[in-house]
Amino acid sequence: MNRYLLFFIFFLVYLACKNKEITPVMDETARMAAAETNFKKFCSTCHGDNGDVFVDRRWKHGTTRDSIIMNINSGFPELGMPLWDSLFNDQETADLADYLLKAIEKRKQFDFKDSLISNTFTHNSETVKLDTIAKGLDNPWGMAFLPDGVFVYADRNGNLYRNVKGVQSLVKGAPAVLAEGQGGLLDIELHPDFDANKLLYLSYSKFKDSAGEKWSTTAILKAKWMGDKLAEQKDIFVAMPYKKTKHHYGCRMEFDTTGFMFVTVGDRGQHADSLPQKLDNDLGKVHRIKDDGSIPDDNPFFNTPGARKSIWSYGHRNPQGMALQRETNTIWTHEHGPRGGDELNIPEKGKNYGWPVISYGINYDGTILTPLTQKEGMEQPLVRWVPSIGPSGMTFVTGDKYPAWKGDILMGSLRFRFLNRVHLNGRAADEQENLLKNIGRLRFVEMGRDGFVYVGVEDPGYIFRLVPVAK
Ligand code: HEC
Repeated sequence: MNRYLLFFIFFLVYLACKNKEITPVMDETARMAAAETNFKKFCSTCHGDNGDVFVDRRWKHGTTRDSIIMNINSGFPELGMPLWDSLFNDQETADLADYLLKAIEKRKQFDFKDSLISNTFTHNSETVKLDTIAKGLDNPWGMAFLPDGVFVYADRNGNLYRNVKGVQSLVKGAPAVLAEGQGGLLDIELHPDFDANKLLYLSYSKFKDSAGEKWSTTAILKAKWMGDKLAEQKDIFVAMPYKKTKHHYGCRMEFDTTGFMFVTVGDRGQHADSLPQKLDNDLGKVHRIKDDGSIPDDNPFFNTPGARKSIWSYGHRNPQGMALQRETNTIWTHEHGPRGGDELNIPEKGKNYGWPVISYGINYDGTILTPLTQKEGMEQPLVRWVPSIGPSGMTFVTGDKYPAWKGDILMGSLRFRFLNRVHLNGRAADEQENLLKNIGRLRFVEMGRDGFVYVGVEDPGYIFRLVPVAK
């Protein structure tokens, strides 16, 4: 009798073990589905919805399963990636790694050259065809239009190019940059009197070595254009303080119609210290300076003891788009929110835009960043995007080449890979349209002297001119 019972127990144990063998196989699909959900919820803001968009689409920190697990757990705080070890258990992290490894296999299909079937984009408003102006770039970030159809553009890796009648060559004399994380050679702006004085401005991440570590900050170099090189280079703006992080530099520049230059500086990932709310530093601010870097004495905090005199507005996170609305002489900016809460603003004299005290975004791990979305004395965004589109670059459409877009704002989306059009009714958006869908991480958009719109996409880096096509 006992022997039978023993047998029976053995049989049960055998069954249990057998089931165990099957369970993981059964769970695999469910676990990958869960990994996908986690990825979409926690990672896609920065890495794209399909695991296709790593920051510059080249895996830098290893593609073995172990290295990916390690990278997810430890994050890259100095580059802007949070650490995740407290949110996921080991199994979930390993599943995320497997999910990513699968995404790498699929990655090819997201390569721009494969996914772009036609170079004509039909939209409800305007239909446009792409003219390729430049290729073979990494991350074209800024562009300027010189007389006689000459283009100048900056690649984030530090290369400055000129393009004369389709022939591209390197321009000498660009500053040394820290091309890590989101830093490098960034925006280009011409002096309003460029045709006479040949002055141009480059924004970049300037760095210094201290005790074996690189510290960097947002800086603006003024230089004279000599045709194939720069001369008389001088830094006219260097944001203080330097930081060890490699992200949130801001770095857009724009002149208003009266000749003042506006400059955006991001929070450098320092919101925990509330630096954007404090006036004793330059981070998380829009600044207003003169063309030689000196500071106008009617700036809002010019006479405030302890305040940085160049500050125009504060409480910003990472504004990577700025444009002048010429008819009203108004400077507009947009900025990246955290997970959700990208904003469109008009930075006005002395005003506080709230970061990180108020925000429509949440922490990347889903926890509440701030319970407040509004507060007295802090400005509300004119438009907000939830989920984040990851905005970069901005222009107002002028001229007559695109009648259906005239007066609208165009801005790039890094995350969703389109050009967003915002039709304004005064200061409110009354219509938005996604143009050039799936074109790639759209980093900048500019109006050329010739009245055409130009866009730059990243990795592989291209610059296109949008040529209207009659329907
Ligand atoms: C706030 C933005 C942000 C979020 C959210 C984020 N990451 Fe990252 N991630 C980064 C940055 C920045 C890097 C560093 C890229 C570099 O070195 O240039 C990075 C790098 C990585 C790498 C290494 C890539 C390589 O090039 O080798 C992995 C793997 C990774 N992230 C996975 C994840 C996963 C999984 C999640 C979600 C749980 C996630 N990340 C969420 C910003 C983010």
